[in-house]
Amino acid sequence: MELSQDTKNILGLQLPTDPRWVDLAEISLEGILTDHAYCEQKAATTCITLIQRYSDKVKLVQDLAPIVTEEWGHFRLVLAELHKRGLHLGKQRKDQYVNKLMEFQRKGGHYDDRFLDHLLMMALIEARSCERFKRLSEGLNDEYLRNFYRRFMESEAGHYTLFLELAETYMDKEKVRTRWKEWLHYENAVMASQEVRGDRIH
Ligand SMILES: [Fe+2]
Ligand SMILES: [Fe+2]
Repeated sequence: MELSQDTKNILGLQLPTDPRWVDLAEISLEGILTDHAYCEQKAATTCITLIQRYSDKVKLVQDLAPIVTEEWGHFRLVLAELHKRGLHLGKQRKDQYVNKLMEFQRKGGHYDDRFLDHLLMMALIEARSCERFKRLSEGLNDEYLRNFYRRFMESEAGHYTLFLELAETYMDKEKVRTRWKEWLHYENAVMASQEVRGDRIH
């Protein structure tokens, strides 16, 4: 499935990935697969945290429960790919991208604002992951891996949409859109300040 122009526009990311990144990723395959595996693990873990924290929100719990399974399934797919290639799952690195995003999350103040930021940060990580997987699905020399990443790209596009939909389910749509733009703007600055490294998804 090719992402529609609409989906690309909705993704809204302001800074496309540096084209050199795919080439760097291809030559550090063990590193990129390790990092990818942990991204999937963190996605599963965060969905569990959201379910625990917002257990009173029926739709959120219903919608995120299967995502936990899906993200963990992604982790297992990446792990299998490492083993198939005789590569090993390395150590988890410090995730500078996510740490930077967390700095933008409102820590105090109104409960709804913190809830909104939690959902939007997840949407943003899914959107950026989707964009990165798209780059890999188009730019890698290995045809098998191009298809491998195409499937992840499709999945993460669905998750990105789900987190935005959840935000709009529980909060005023205008408020969601305004804050989403602020997040996109902030993410642009974070991406621009990041070193281009082939052993990192973000
Ligand atoms: Fe995933
Ligand atoms: Fe995801």
